[in-house]
Amino acid sequence: MKEKKIALIPGDGIGPEVISEGVKVLKAIEQVDSNLSFEFTAYPWGCEYYLEHGKMMEENGLDQLKDADAIYLGAVGYPGVPDHISLWDLLLKIRKGFDQYVNLRPVTLLNPSLTPLKNKTEKEIDFLVIRENSEGEYAGAGDWLFKGKPEEVVLQTGVFSRKGTERIIRYAFEEARKQKKTLTSISKANALNYSMVFWDEVFDEVGKEYPDVVTYSYLVDAACMFFVQQPERFEIVVTTNLFGDILTDIGAAITGGMGLATGANINPEREFPSMFEPVHGSAPDISGKGLANPIAAIWSVAQMMDFFGEAKWSELIVTTIKELLKEKEYLTPDLGGNATTAELGNQFIKLLFEQDAITYKKNR
Ligand code: NAD
Ligand code: IPM
Ligand code: MN
Repeated sequence: MKEKKIALIPGDGIGPEVISEGVKVLKAIEQVDSNLSFEFTAYPWGCEYYLEHGKMMEENGLDQLKDADAIYLGAVGYPGVPDHISLWDLLLKIRKGFDQYVNLRPVTLLNPSLTPLKNKTEKEIDFLVIRENSEGEYAGAGDWLFKGKPEEVVLQTGVFSRKGTERIIRYAFEEARKQKKTLTSISKANALNYSMVFWDEVFDEVGKEYPDVVTYSYLVDAACMFFVQQPERFEIVVTTNLFGDILTDIGAAITGGMGLATGANINPEREFPSMFEPVHGSAPDISGKGLANPIAAIWSVAQMMDFFGEAKWSELIVTTIKELLKEKEYLTPDLGGNATTAELGNQFIKLLFEQDAITYKKNR
């Protein structure tokens, strides 16, 4: 029996709405799988907590989370609290504090009707973005000089350490080798004449150890174009923190929108817990109305199951999402339907049990 401790941080806006559907999925799994059980601890941290307590999480927050097997997070950020405070003091604090330096963001079309791209099929939009998640443009290094004066200057320094750059690139090569896929590095060495020249050099250097992996290297502006025009070029992508952030919103757009995009923040050494979350934010424009699409959050549960070594559940969740999308009756408004967040979630559970019964029969 595997007992997994899951820390829940539903957070702000639609965060709690979509996380509660994901928790239904976890509870359904433990109900039918006698080898798995989950112990949930919920944390009330987020912008409301901030307005009440003057901080986004408790001082020893990371300490409270450190023994969890996984963190399941909704979204952070809401009007009323400056974004750079809410995100730096909660989401980014966890990613950095727990050295979750790998951000795995699949760009996979789960149903052909979802892409706005003409003539593109599931076969042509199916890749994985591996985003550096600990430093780069998100290092928080900089200064704000002569504030409010005519000579005001702000500096936001990109930090690319040898260790940080090498480990993400090596992780991506390992993944490409394991999956027998091509690896594309996305950078910008023509303009960023220190950091990205260094990135490209490390990519070439590490690549020498992986002669079996076919590689490509694109400038980020061209890569944006290819994401839209020829997504079939990509199998595994490795890129920097900021470029990865931006590119994966394009990835979301070509696969059905923010309601479907998932991301896993991984500490590969398992020294600290990893964190699973949808790519989208708190969506204040639709929050509190039952309009949010919980599929991204449900897909995050699949990534969590993968991380736990439960590939069967991960695959079953993705298959069930595909079934739900095919069926079309229980989709939220972002996908053209009129189901609520909870109606979609409930239908998902029903289909998951059906799918599980099918695989169960097949395996007997
Ligand atoms: P957002 O992702 O919250 O919303 C962008 C657009 O996508 C909105 O129109 C929204 O309604 C729609 N959308 C997003 N998720 C959806 C879902 N599940 N179902 C249906 N529609 C969905 O991005 P934003 O508006 O730029 O940011 C809002 C807040 O969230 C800001 O405070 C931002 O800093 C924060 N944010 C947090 C995270 C995170 O916690 N991981 C990620 C992105 C943004
Ligand atoms: C994401 C988000 C975060 C990021 C923000 C909210 C700090 O946009 O997870 O994609 O930029 O990493
Ligand atoms: Mn983002």
